Amino acid sequence: MNEVIKTIYERRAVRKYNDLKINQDLLDLLLNAGRMAPSAMNKQPWKFYVITDEQLIHAFSKEISEIAIKEISHAKKDEVDKLNLSSYHMSTMTNLLKNTDHIFYHAPVVILITTLADEEWGGIDAGMCAQNIMLAAKSLGLDTCPVGLAKYINQAKDFYELNIPDTEKIQLAILVGYGDEDPILHERIEDNVVYI
Ligand SMILES: Cc1cc2nc3c(=O)[nH]c(=O)nc-3n(C[C@H](O)[C@H](O)[C@H](O)COP(=O)(O)O)c2cc1C
Repeated sequence: MNEVIKTIYERRAVRKYNDLKINQDLLDLLLNAGRMAPSAMNKQPWKFYVITDEQLIHAFSKEISEIAIKEISHAKKDEVDKLNLSSYHMSTMTNLLKNTDHIFYHAPVVILITTLADEEWGGIDAGMCAQNIMLAAKSLGLDTCPVGLAKYINQAKDFYELNIPDTEKIQLAILVGYGDEDPILHERIEDNVVYI
């Protein structure tokens, strides 16, 4: 396999990190890889908020768990259907969130990717950018996890410290660190191709 394909196959969502910090040169490489992503009409709509303060990351993580639990348990039936979560998944997720740090998993770096909220292709552009960051990280010996639940950070009491304008939408967080686990490979669904 060539190196790119190998990296694609080796990337996993990693949810346990060791204490090693990430130096600025590596972070710059990751952000520059993100910037190389394609974007609709070449708008490059992403913005990066890089959080490295351990205590702040942990405090946000704890608070987002609480917010997420409330949101999930208060979700009305049609919203739950939209989330495509069965009651089994709902209770599993709620239980998971109740234990320790299940949002940012003690990662040393959290990159929030935002775009303007009214950017038509913002979610897709941010996703492409995120994937570039995650593959670049893997190729450099780092691990990552994309975290959608980070969207609730805008309800946290210290959110103002991030100076994220309310015109922006938090599309995704990418956790970055040196992984301390070897997650299983989830089998990929393969009956999803239609040849015409
Ligand atoms: C848009 C998006 C949101 C995600 N949100 C979360 C999350 O909030 N918490 C989490 O632990 N993992 C999250 N994940 C990671 C997925 O659970 C993970 O990618 C999936 O289980 C496949 O595993 P793999 O990445 O190791 O192949 C998210 C992934 C994506 C693409």
